[in-house]
Amino acid sequence: MVGAYGGAQAPRITGETMTISLKVNGSQRAVPADADTPLLYVLRNDLALNGAKFGCGLAQCGACTVLVDGRAVRSCITEIGTIGEAEITTIEGLGTIEKPHPLQQAFIDTQAAQCGYCINGMIMTAKDLLDRNPHPAAAEVREALAGNLCRCGTHNRIVRAVLRAAENMGKT
Ligand code: FES
Ligand code: FES
Repeated sequence: MVGAYGGAQAPRITGETMTISLKVNGSQRAVPADADTPLLYVLRNDLALNGAKFGCGLAQCGACTVLVDGRAVRSCITEIGTIGEAEITTIEGLGTIEKPHPLQQAFIDTQAAQCGYCINGMIMTAKDLLDRNPHPAAAEVREALAGNLCRCGTHNRIVRAVLRAAENMGKT
């Protein structure tokens, strides 16, 4: 069986439970779960990676965004059985407290977060953007983040943060 992101999917049936192997933040993890379990549930409930948030559960808000092979996906509707050997990156895999990713640092410096609920999804979506377009115009940042909702209305600061990160990353 081939996952939607390429590579062989290797579920193993152990008794009644299927064990699915996932590559998360550079580590191979084995998870006992059904193949149609949303990735978000596995990240939060099985792997204690709580950065991706449950917002709508319907691919409508972006709070659950993570990267799969570098592309931003809505983990709330991504079934783990479709991932195969693809690399999953969550906000926890981007940087550390001691050494934050430039995007994380820019969001801090810009004080882009209000409640913060949307921010991790914003950062992961922005990471996908900057990897493809290291010097985006403000309009391109807005377009990339258009599907990520922020109930606190901090969009302008979020766009500023992404532009600042792009600028800082261009200097290194
Ligand atoms: S929780 Fe996934 S898009 Fe809203
Ligand atoms: S900072 Fe509160 S939802 Fe965006």
